[in-house]
Amino acid sequence: MNILAIESSCDETAAAVVRDGRTVLSNEIFSQADMHALYGGVVPEIASRSHITVISRLADEAVRKVGLLKSDLDAVAVTAAPGLIGALLVGVNFAKGAALALGVPLIPVHHVRGHIAANYLAFPELEPPFLCLAISGGNTAIVDVRGYTDMSIVGATVDDAAGECFDKAARVLGLPYPGGLPLQRLAEGGDDTAFKLPHAHVEGHPYDMSFSGLKTAVVNAAHTAAQKGGDLNRAGLAASFQRAVSETLVPRTMDAARDLGYDTVVVAGGVAANARIRADFEAACRREGRRLFVPPLRLCGDNAAMIGCQGYYEYLAGVTAGQELNAYATMDIDKVRF
Ligand code: KG4
Repeated sequence: MNILAIESSCDETAAAVVRDGRTVLSNEIFSQADMHALYGGVVPEIASRSHITVISRLADEAVRKVGLLKSDLDAVAVTAAPGLIGALLVGVNFAKGAALALGVPLIPVHHVRGHIAANYLAFPELEPPFLCLAISGGNTAIVDVRGYTDMSIVGATVDDAAGECFDKAARVLGLPYPGGLPLQRLAEGGDDTAFKLPHAHVEGHPYDMSFSGLKTAVVNAAHTAAQKGGDLNRAGLAASFQRAVSETLVPRTMDAARDLGYDTVVVAGGVAANARIRADFEAACRREGRRLFVPPLRLCGDNAAMIGCQGYYEYLAGVTAGQELNAYATMDIDKVRF
């Protein structure tokens, strides 16, 4: 089954063709990061307009590059939630038109389910059940993945997403948007004990997380240095910040895996590219004898291949939509209704 997949939930426009769920035939991505860098974050209106200008060409390339004809496509999958509403609507409307014109089923996909599915593309042996930490620019959750389309949230951030926090900390440190990778690079030469930063606990919810206090602490540390007129230890602050994020994410995920009896731990989403977090998970899983799966860097960020993969499993579970399909800015991963 050849699925044409479309992703436009934030600042990447992407189109892919995926065969039978796990074979990526093409995976085209156009990143708008440079357009938003000027503003220090994603400008929704610019994102929507840019998606409109490139989506048809990308989809066409994704099909033609691998020598397929439009008649070789068996379904169209699209990210329909969560994300920036205007951005999502561009992809959803394009996908609706494509499915109608081709006379094939339309499959709505939850974006974070797609991030989890990126691991199926990288690791043929991986199958649910497992415990997954999904960490991206807009979402941070520990997910009990019982089946390909059967999952529930075990714990989540009560305020900012981990990626959002990385981007904000990077901005304070004078780094460009998106800030995750530049912050990681700055942290490489830094002492991760240079600053004492908060690790918040959510009373009564051991797997939940909070990042807003950490974000404020980084802002305050930078402002204090500026007011005193002294040099800010930028590398030390970046390293201490990364450590605080990792020490929030890794132990909670490992505790949840142990408590729920999972020997397989999966990490997904843009922040899964972070070297410190990857290293800390590797050490923790080795210590506890659990299998760890983290996607290769090229599959951590937003892409359409992961949507084609998850779309295949949604289709097998009977999930399709008609021309009335809408996009939704928010939707829980365990309450997917299109
Ligand atoms: O998954 P993604 O591409 O988009 C969403 O679905 O949100 O994630 C983007 C986020 C951004 O906040 C970016 O700064 C972060 O992933 N990111 C990183 C790294 N690479 C990307 N964060 C930390 N370390 C990295 N190496």
